[in-house]
Amino acid sequence: MKLLVTGGAGYVGSVCSTILIERGHDVTILDNLSTGNRDAVPAQARFIEGEVATDASTVLGEGGFDAVIHFAARSLVGESVEKPEEYWRDNVGATLALLEAMRTHGVKNLVFSSTAATYGEPDEVPITETHPTAPTNPYGATKLAIDHAIRSYCVAHDFGATSLRYFNVAGAYGQVGENRVIETHLIPIILQVALGHREKISIYGDDWPTPDGTCIRDYIHIVDLAEAHILALESNKPGTHRIFNLGSGDGYSVKEVVDTCRKVTGHEIPAEIAPRRAGDPAQLIASCEKAIKELGWNPERTDLSTIVADAWEFTKNLGDKAHSAKA
Ligand code: UFG
Repeated sequence: MKLLVTGGAGYVGSVCSTILIERGHDVTILDNLSTGNRDAVPAQARFIEGEVATDASTVLGEGGFDAVIHFAARSLVGESVEKPEEYWRDNVGATLALLEAMRTHGVKNLVFSSTAATYGEPDEVPITETHPTAPTNPYGATKLAIDHAIRSYCVAHDFGATSLRYFNVAGAYGQVGENRVIETHLIPIILQVALGHREKISIYGDDWPTPDGTCIRDYIHIVDLAEAHILALESNKPGTHRIFNLGSGDGYSVKEVVDTCRKVTGHEIPAEIAPRRAGDPAQLIASCEKAIKELGWNPERTDLSTIVADAWEFTKNLGDKAHSAKA
């Protein structure tokens, strides 16, 4: 397929683009490099530095595109609370422009990066796709609004689309992985401590209502996540919007993640207990039954040690390219 991939210079977008190219797809990446890395763009992809809101229409207007995978977004929960206007503009505003560009140019197959943050604080785990959506921050609210917009384009304009609700994505695919200028995610931060780029990991609270008092999350390997995108792309049907949760179905506490990283890296990794981080739910675990049954998804890297080992291999090999090394 000839694909437009927005946000293909980011972590998830670059891994997915790499795998799509390996499967024989023709990939054009549109990314403004606000948070992405030019280095992460696969050599065989065509790269356009630009804005989804204004440039997607020009790119799709060239003709021949079969589908769009839309990763480009702002995705920091804390920042979204402080600057909601930027999240509504860059997430919702840009996606509305993208949907219109797709409609104008007759490209109606779409895969969208949605998030577990659309559910908010869960009533129960594992979280199924029928769980009520009550996002607790603007980031989740913008992603949920986009899911609704996409659904209405499927109904009214015959789009065939899938929203994939990611839980905690981690791991790497060879030389493509997580290397953000501003890093807030648990596993990459712990690995930066292992490398000596940070002094210690702060564990945000040990008084949560969980067995060891630290927050529980469901970590999904980036390669399993990429496979789900390909399956969705290949099975989208006009007039239909599907939503799938993507996780492993297993929860690990922050302390368990730190311990796994110690075992995998062989480094001591100093940790301290810090205050809770505002807006964190105690526990997020996905039910992935629907994706397994309806999408034919078969996640193969669900063991946390595998996820951490792949992330560690990537992080160690970054050398001078590591943003944390320059910090
Ligand atoms: N954590 C720490 N110390 C750190 C960083 C994180 O203790 O230095 C804890 C967090 O409090 C949380 C867990 O590790 O309990 C995971 O935190 P991450 O920041 O890695 O991931 P989140 O669960 O906050 O966020 C993920 C996605 C978001 C998405 C959210 C859904 O990265 O995009 O899930 O709630 F919005």
